Amino acid sequence: MTRSNEIVKVGLGKRSYDIVIAPGSLHRMGAYLQGLGLSGKVGVVTNPALARLYGASLKQALVKAGFTCHLISIPEGERTKTLRWASSIVDELVKHRFERRSALVALGGGVIGDITGFAASMYLRGIPFIQVATTLVAQVDSSVGGKTGVNHPSGKNLIGAFYQPALVVSDTNTLRTLPKREWLAGMAEVIKYGVIADRRFFAFLEDRMEHILDMRETDVQTVVKRCCEIKAKVVAKDERESGLRRILNYGHTIGHALEALSRYRKYIHGEAVAIGMVHEAHLAHHLELCSAAAVDRQCALIRRTGLPERMPAHNFLKFWRAMGHDKKVAGGTIYCVLPRSIGRVQVLPLEPRVVRRWHAQFS
Ligand code: NAD
Ligand code: GLY
Repeated sequence: MTRSNEIVKVGLGKRSYDIVIAPGSLHRMGAYLQGLGLSGKVGVVTNPALARLYGASLKQALVKAGFTCHLISIPEGERTKTLRWASSIVDELVKHRFERRSALVALGGGVIGDITGFAASMYLRGIPFIQVATTLVAQVDSSVGGKTGVNHPSGKNLIGAFYQPALVVSDTNTLRTLPKREWLAGMAEVIKYGVIADRRFFAFLEDRMEHILDMRETDVQTVVKRCCEIKAKVVAKDERESGLRRILNYGHTIGHALEALSRYRKYIHGEAVAIGMVHEAHLAHHLELCSAAAVDRQCALIRRTGLPERMPAHNFLKFWRAMGHDKKVAGGTIYCVLPRSIGRVQVLPLEPRVVRRWHAQFS
């Protein structure tokens, strides 16, 4: 059975839900779905590699609990996060005559989670949707908070909906098969939570990073749970990102710019966020918002993970324009999350002349 210390609650009134964080929880999916009052058909959206790794176990758990399970496999990777593939998921639901009380389960990382949630939000104006998060990024970030969507040829995540899952299940055992590069990319988001909201958690990461990187079970549990608690609290206060939720984008203004400037080929997201955090911290210090010690602690922790931290050389105007394509732009002004100390950040407008002076050292 699931213990109460393995659950984080996301408080959103009628749309509240649990996040279950426990090794082996994938095998209890049948009971979890029954607990939500669901019965009948379940569509499991995944990709071929994840279907091979976890599809059979998940299907068995669902079938044993009396569900009819349809596996919907879509190609692996960010390039699948399109309207066309979202529509192909809907085609499968139509073909198998899914009803309002049928459910969709996303088995995978952020790509599968985002597109499955979006398909669930569209079909019959919304059917229940459950996230089974299998990457560190998904377990600490993308599965929580209801941002669903797909990419448009001219930009990432331009099409989507806020659509909360009915449940999130993070089986931490699944992280053991994750490629190391993906695991480390998730670590950037983990460090982010310490900087934006919890200096004690940041100190815990400093203390335990080697054990966490070794995937020691209790440490991994603690990390995923604390990140979810922080995200749940932020989302409960600001579901639609009209204020507080913007702090979750620390490292992302520069990070997104670097991803776009390298045409999404050089870095995976967490790597760009790591460089983004290092340099948004440096920028905050340049603006006299935080101490050099606060910058040094972040750089040191990021360095210990092996994540990249060096800013590639870019022409300033290209860099500024790329930052301007980020979603945190309002009325043409670029807003950036800047640290004041470890555990506290502020969202502030950026002044181009000041950023140009700071950026000169990288061009
Ligand atoms: P991903 O979903 O692309 O997964 C990375 C790779 O790992 C894929 O090849 C996948 O098949 C593989 N994989 C997944 N789980 C595995 C496992 N347990 N064992 C072996 N291989 C496994 O990457 P991601 O970092 O999880 O997600 C990135 C996506 O998430 C982006 O599209 C991003 O926009 C989105 N995202 C969304 C939110 C949100 O709030 N909705 C937040 C952050 C990121
Ligand atoms: N990943 C940022 C957010 O969910 O708001």
